[in-house]
Amino acid sequence: MTNVLSIAQRQDQLVADYVATTEFKQVFIHELFGFDEPLKGFEDATQIPAEAHPLTPTLDPDYVFNPSLVRRALLSMAARESIMLVGDKGTGKSSFVQQLMARLNRPLLTINAGPGVDESYLLGCKTIEDGSVKNVDGMLSYAVRNGIPVLIDELCTLRPGVLVSINDILQGDNLITLKHHGIDPSIDPKSILDMDGTMSIVRHPAFRLFATDNTGGKSQKDGRFGGVNTQNSAVRSRFTSFKVTFMAPDREVLALGKASDSQLGEDTIKSMIELGFRFRAAFEQGEAFDNLSFRELKRWAKKTALYGDINEAFVDAIYTNLEAGDQILAETLFETVFGTELELTEEYSTSAGDMLDAFIGASNSAAA
Ligand SMILES: Nc1ncnc2c1ncn2[C@@H]1O[C@H](COP(=O)(O)OP(=O)(O)OP(=O)(O)O)[C@@H](O)[C@H]1O
Ligand SMILES: [Mg+2]
Repeated sequence: MTNVLSIAQRQDQLVADYVATTEFKQVFIHELFGFDEPLKGFEDATQIPAEAHPLTPTLDPDYVFNPSLVRRALLSMAARESIMLVGDKGTGKSSFVQQLMARLNRPLLTINAGPGVDESYLLGCKTIEDGSVKNVDGMLSYAVRNGIPVLIDELCTLRPGVLVSINDILQGDNLITLKHHGIDPSIDPKSILDMDGTMSIVRHPAFRLFATDNTGGKSQKDGRFGGVNTQNSAVRSRFTSFKVTFMAPDREVLALGKASDSQLGEDTIKSMIELGFRFRAAFEQGEAFDNLSFRELKRWAKKTALYGDINEAFVDAIYTNLEAGDQILAETLFETVFGTELELTEEYSTSAGDMLDAFIGASNSAAA
């Protein structure tokens, strides 16, 4: 018999191997995330890997963290919970997970969900190699096996049944059973945990699961959420869900200033944020079809620095994407905030009728 270790012993072994092959350093969490005060429960130094992993996301030094969200997410991670971030577009859900991992020097595999992601993509399948049948891992099963945190981005775009098939992973089971493997009848049940080729995976203690979603998997009749599916409530109940909203205005001022490499004056940045919040307030009151995200404000600020023209930058970064009704609202708010009318680019001020008149006029004067 090759293998009689229990699940717990295997996990201890995986931790021991991880510690033996990783160099660690001591950090203060509040310093790592740029906060002045220690976070409750994280007053003492914490150990993190000394070096980034090749799969660690690129660190964005300008990312502005919310201390409360960081604290709750770290505590949830310590409890090995599956974490879902729910919120409107562009509120910083995906980037929060990426930047969390970047600061902690942890790897991250991101799975962009969508209707093409199925059980075999996540958990593996049988394939043919050199004429013989071989089992291969999916993205998720590979990560569970090797202790790589995973982000399932835009979870609601998965077909609902797919998530049910990973309920054991979502709820943190220490032994994951792969359906495609089947069981070789000659395997001794005591050897079923053998890492190579059996149907079971012992969850690596360093594995973590994150997901993001605009709707939280709930039913959505809102036209802004085309292509999302309502997820089984039993699936949702396996996540600890954090609501992510827009940053507070002063944090957005800070983040936008950094995003535009401090090329815009503080008054300009503040006016951009004011317009953003006026738009969001209108959305809350049901006066706008869609919300205005930080992603769009960031693009506006960057383009303003690039174009040297706040009007043109607004049109290309925000205005053209808006529904007709929201465009009118945007023009009104622009004037309220900046005290001048929004100067639309020439494409908006020239109609086919005007061009026809000019064309005919030019032809007539040539003929005269
Ligand atoms: N707190 C923040 N500090 C700095 N930049 C931020 C912050 N939050 C979001 N951003 C920036 O705003 C943009 C949008 O963020 P992100 O893609 O994370 O949003 P999201 O909530 O995942 O949106 P979606 O639901 O559309 O996927 C990114 O460029 C990100 O870097
Ligand atoms: Mg996202």
